[in-house]
Parts: sequence; structure tokens; C-alpha cells
Amino acid sequence: STAADTSSTGAAKAPGDIVVGFAQVGAESGWRTANTKDIQDAFAASGMQLKFSDAQQKQENQIKAIRSYITQGVDVIAFSPVVETGWDAVLKEAKDAGIPVVLTDRAVDSKDDSLYVSFLGSDFIKEGEKAGQWVVDEYKNQTDPVKIIQLEGTTGAAPAIDRAEGFADVIKADPKFQIVASQTGDFTRAGGKQVTEALLKSNPDATLIFAHNDDMGLGAIEAVEAAGKVPGKDIKIVTIDAVKDGMQALSDGKINFIVECSPLLGKQLVDIVKKVVAGESVEKRILTEETTFTQEQATAAFPTRQY
Ligand code: AHR
Repeated sequence: STAADTSSTGAAKAPGDIVVGFAQVGAESGWRTANTKDIQDAFAASGMQLKFSDAQQKQENQIKAIRSYITQGVDVIAFSPVVETGWDAVLKEAKDAGIPVVLTDRAVDSKDDSLYVSFLGSDFIKEGEKAGQWVVDEYKNQTDPVKIIQLEGTTGAAPAIDRAEGFADVIKADPKFQIVASQTGDFTRAGGKQVTEALLKSNPDATLIFAHNDDMGLGAIEAVEAAGKVPGKDIKIVTIDAVKDGMQALSDGKINFIVECSPLLGKQLVDIVKKVVAGESVEKRILTEETTFTQEQATAAFPTRQY
């Protein structure tokens, strides 16, 4: 039953009677694993029932999962859309069934914002801008071209689109910055390694890699080393996420800079769900707070990192 039912009866639902369906993207990265764990832990602590599905980075699987949550009549559906477009039909089905939808981590590209109640997650454009700003500062005394390889996230995903946009917007201030190659590594370590191997061959004069997440950057490190170059020195690497393995590589000097993207969305999602079920209004856009890390800062922060 929905928020409307609750307010009409005036009786608040007990947490144990609230059922939430969460359609996750997949298990493509360290970030995603941390995000899944945080969401499952937060719901377990809340006493609400969580139904969880993993779409293995396929939109069709996510749509199937959402449809099944609609059929089961869950109270709230939350999901992290693998790509931005193509959601209107299934979201309309949820709306017609009176089931509120919360977007978690990633946005949809839809003209109709009545199809979801709230979007909780990072500002991916800002993350790309922060990565770009580090690059601009790092090379401020260099006049020669800086040839950049970009490892893109999943094609069509909000973080891939927005991070590329934010980064490009900042580096365009100086034409010495040239993105000489840009390809998707699908946010995975294997993808980052494979794409870097190929792109280093076709662009042997590249000196900087911007990877849309830590995992692809970690894969790139392996490819750079296999090419006989030193990651962090011959080829500088900038990434986004700040998961444990990324922070370790940053602290070891193999990555040069990381922009944080927090996967710890569980508690906030639980709060949103509680409010929605109680018929209270929620903010349409809820941003996560994030910072950045240099190599020194990574060494200092490492012991207390949660993910
Ligand atoms: O949507 C967030 C992104 O998805 C993370 O940066 C990446 O690691 C994950 O796969």
C-alpha cells in the first residue's frame, strides 16, 4: 500500500510491514560492492524488508526487476539506473500502481519528473570538474601539449556522461590539453586494463589518464606497467571514487589524484523511504557530500576509510 493509504487511515506502518524493492546496477566495481553492502546494512538496521536484485549492468534486467516489484506490490521501489534513458514506460507503470520510486546514485533522463519522488546521489558533473581542475593546476607551468587518454564509464550512464562533460568543460580553458583517445571500460578493472593496453599502443605519447572510476584506473596501472612505463610518473592517473584499493594505489604513488564519490547512501535512502511511506514530503534532489584526495591526504585518510 502507498503513502496515500497510510494518511487516509491515519495509522503509521510498522517498519517490519514496509517492503522496499531495490534494483541495483550490478557488481561492476569496488564502489558498487560498497554501495550494495551499505544499503543492505542500513535496511537490516531499520527493520524494514528489503528485496534486492542485481541487474549485471543490463537495463533489460533492471526493468524486469522493477516490474516484478510492481507485481509484488512493494511499498517503495529504489534503483540506480544503469543508463540514463529508456525508463519512462516502466516508471509510468510504477506510478499508475501507486508505488513511489526513489532514484539512488544515478539519474534518469526524462522530461517527466513526476515519475520519481526523489533523487539521492552525487553531483557527477562537479566530480568531473574537480578532476579537470587538478589537471589544470598540475600542468600550469607546462606549455607543451598534454595528451590525455580518457577511460569512460558505461556508455549512456549518468556518471560517464556527466564526468566527461565536467572534465572537458574545465580543461578546455587551455588548448594544450588534448583528449587524444576516449573509450569505455564499462567501470570495470578488466575493461580499464584492456582499453588502456590498446590506447597506449595507438597513443604512445599520452602522459595522462583520466579514468571515470578507481577500478578502471587500477586496470590502467597494470597496462601502464606492462608497457614498461611507471604509473604516477611517466603516465599520471586521475580517477573518481576513493575506494580502498584506489586509495592504496594513490598512497603508493601509482595514482596521482582521486575525486571522492561516496557509495554510503544507505542511511539517507532509509530516511527517504520512511518519510515517503509516512506520506511526508521529501526533497526532490538530495546531494551527497564529497571531497578530493592527494597522495599525502590518501596516506593520512587510509586507516579510517570505511570502504
Ligand atoms: O554510479 C557511480 C559509479 O558507478 C561509480 O563511480 C563507479 O565506480 C560505479 O560503477
